[in-house]
Parts: sequence; C-alpha cells; structure tokens
Amino acid sequence: MYLPHHLEPTIKQLEEDFAISDEFLIKASDFFLQSMDEGLKAPEQSREHMPMIPTYVTAIPTGKEKGLYLAADLGGTNFRVCSVDLKGDHTHELIQNKYRIPQELMKASSADKLFSYLAQKIESFLDEHHTEAKEKSTQPLKLGFTFSFPVNQTNLDEGTLIRWTKGFDIPDAVDRDIVDLLQANLTVLEINVKVVALANDTVGTLLSGAYQNNPAETNANTIVGAIFGTGTNGAYFETLENIPKLKNPPPGAKGMVINTEWGSFDNTLKILPRTKYDEIVDSETANKGYHLFEKRISGMFLGEILRVILIDLFKQDLIFTDLYKARGGSLPHRLAQPWQLDSEVLSYLQIDDSTDLKMSELILQNTLRLPTTRDERVVIQRLTQAISNRAAKLSAIPLATIAKRVKDQYKDDDKDFEFGCDGSVVEFYPGFRQAILDSVNVIDPLKGTNKKIHIRISKDGSSVGVAVVPALVEEIQKNPHNL
Ligand code: BGC
Repeated sequence: MYLPHHLEPTIKQLEEDFAISDEFLIKASDFFLQSMDEGLKAPEQSREHMPMIPTYVTAIPTGKEKGLYLAADLGGTNFRVCSVDLKGDHTHELIQNKYRIPQELMKASSADKLFSYLAQKIESFLDEHHTEAKEKSTQPLKLGFTFSFPVNQTNLDEGTLIRWTKGFDIPDAVDRDIVDLLQANLTVLEINVKVVALANDTVGTLLSGAYQNNPAETNANTIVGAIFGTGTNGAYFETLENIPKLKNPPPGAKGMVINTEWGSFDNTLKILPRTKYDEIVDSETANKGYHLFEKRISGMFLGEILRVILIDLFKQDLIFTDLYKARGGSLPHRLAQPWQLDSEVLSYLQIDDSTDLKMSELILQNTLRLPTTRDERVVIQRLTQAISNRAAKLSAIPLATIAKRVKDQYKDDDKDFEFGCDGSVVEFYPGFRQAILDSVNVIDPLKGTNKKIHIRISKDGSSVGVAVVPALVEEIQKNPHNL
C-alpha cells in the first residue's frame, strides 16, 4: 500500500532486511543438516551446536497402544492436567483442566514454589475427575509429564533442566531432575500418582500424531512432531548409528526419538539473518545468546520485534510524532513497555483489508491504547507482513531438512510425509502454514520421489503424546521384536 516518500524508502529497506531468498533457504537447509550431525556427535552441550537430545523413546506408536494415563503439561503460560484413555484403535478420550501459571511463579527464586503449585493443580484435577487416585490401596496412577524446555534426558523418567526459555527464569531449577521435583511435591500431598515418563512437547506431538494417524487411511507417515507456538522446536526418529554421542543405548533399540531443540539452531549466527531489532529483542530476554532461531520465529517474539521497530521509527521522527506532541511528550505506556504487543494482534493486522485499515485502527486502540494515522497503519501492516513472512520461511528449514534426513528410513514405502504440528502460530496465524509449505517446496527435500508433504495440526498433541509413552513402553515390553 502507498506511503508518502518520507516513509517509503525506510519501510522498503526494512522489508528487504527481513526478506528470505530461495537461495538462502537451500543454503540454510544444508547448514541445518550439518548442525544436526554436530549435535548428535558432541558429548557435551554447548552454545555452538543444536542440543539434539536423545529421549529414550525407542519406537513410534502404531495406534494400538491402550490404557488410561494421566498427563501433565507445562510449556508456556498454562499448565494442563489431563487423563487420556487410549483405546488402541488410533482414538482416545481426553478429560482436561487448564490452569494459568501466575507470573510470579515463572520468575522465582525457588523451583519448589512452581512445582508445588503444579502438584496442587494435579490434586484438584484428581479430586474432580479421578478420586480413586486418593486411595492408597490401589495401584498408583501413571503420569507422563510434558515439560517443554531443554532437558538433558538420561532415561524415560529422568532428566535435568539445561536452561529455561520462553520467559521462565528460576535459576534454582537448572541442573535439577524435573521428575524428582514433581514427584517430591506430589508425595508431600499424599497423591497416589507415579511420574513414569518425561517428554518434551514436540516428542508428545510426534507420538500423538503417529498414534492418531492411520497410514492405511491417510497414506502418510508422521515423521516430525513440531511446535510453532510461544516457542518452537521439533522431534523426529533417528537411527542409532547416527547418534554417536549415545553411549549406552537401551538393549535392542534400533533408533531413538531426538528432541532437536532447533530453537538453538545457529546460536552463533553464522548464517541466520540478523537485524539490529533481533539484537534488541535478544538483549531483553533471560536466555540471551541462546535460542536465536526461536527468537526469529515463535509467538513470544513476533510482536516484540514489531514493537522495537516501531519505537526505532518513532525515535527517527518517522511515526507517532503528532501523537507524541498531543500526549505532552510521551508514548502510550503499553507501546513503550517490552512484551506488551501480543503476536495474536499481528495476526489481525496481517490480513486487514478494510478501507484505510480501519480495522487495525480499532485493534491498536483496543489492545495498546494506540491512536494511529492511516500512514502509520500502513507502516505497521507492511512490517507485520515482513516479520511473519520471515518467520514462516525460516520455519520451513528444519521441517524440510528433517524430511530430507529421514527419507531413507522410508525408502521401501510409498507413503507421503506428514509433519504433526501444534501451537498457536501454526494453527491460527493467517497464511503461516501455506507459507511454510511453499518454502519446503523450494528446498524440495523429497526430490526424486512421488511423495508429498502435508502439515497436520495435532491438537492437544503434547498431552496425548506423553500418555502414549508409558503405553508404548508396555507394548515394547510385550512385543520386543516390534522395535
Ligand atoms: C523449548 C522447547 C519447546 C519449545 C516449544 C522452546 O523454547 O526450548 O523445549 O519444545 O519451546 O514449546
């Protein structure tokens, strides 16, 4: 949309700074592949390579797994507690309660505050839906814990926190065993529940995607579990010979699900695009210098990138000048405050086609108390599109590269590839999914085959999937040859 010439060159330049070319996508996919190998080799975690964490999940579900399990899911602003009844025919029944995590528990001095809150919520869920868990005479209910932060996993039910992401900051929890923290707080409340599995949300999404998918009907295999929400990450199945850092693999295992923690792809910025705004946003976070890929893609950051650009344009006297004068020398408080511009707002601005962007005027007024002129709204819309376009194109890199990487695992099978995805950005942001697929096609990972690539939204995947873990383990114990 047209802008007056004091603005046009600046905005055009910004659009160029955020543009991602086809050549870049191809080069970045090669680099991603290389980074995966480095992460699978390196025995120690470091900022230099992707974590590529072995999860001790050694098989992918078939859909025949059965049983009733509890799932607890912590990954962002909400804590979910569910019971999942797996029917053994790709279907399940789910009962769930959702609790908002109080801000003061996300940044706290002691981990026990958070984990005792989680245990109390599990107790309220059980009081409501499963009173049998209070009876000591019965077998404990088995609980899978989805914990969506980088964890150094040492067994299915063991793992220590590497670092917090997505705005959490409780230093006291780092290096501590996450299962122990939860179990200890459940024991204090005398709840008859045993935490039997710990999994990242992407692992849950992969497993629930595979459990629910019936390849005979969809003609597709689920090869990746991915999240594009507050944060971003993905998991896939890797063959053992490609995981040299795994020194004592479980007996009989042929491979293992890997939690890539791709949010930390290229932390040293060898190839990722960098603008001064990315640097400002990074400097505002608790995990500065880490997860720089995530900070260009996921929901927590898209709004903040836009906000810091707007502040910079304002400082250059390009926008909000009249507003500034009218307010006697200040900007609306919400615009001046970090993290106050929600990415959900961007999803409305992105597709506003009303005359003079009147819809956006209303939205900005309501959400930020920000009055705008027509030109300012055009600026905001064009920047929103540039930021989200970059995010969607970058999101294609890990997905396409993993498809390329696992192609051989499926060489004797003619089914399509399916990415099981969850998260607000991939689910709700207008055009995001299609933009990912367009860029996946540019990378063209399945060149030379007739297979196609689909994205499937795997709702509640992270919770359902962690319930599949214990069921899967029981299946494996019954039929070890299925590994
Ligand atoms: C975390 C991952 C998680 C992702 C999506 C990232 O910030 O490091 O463990 O899977 O967010 O929730």
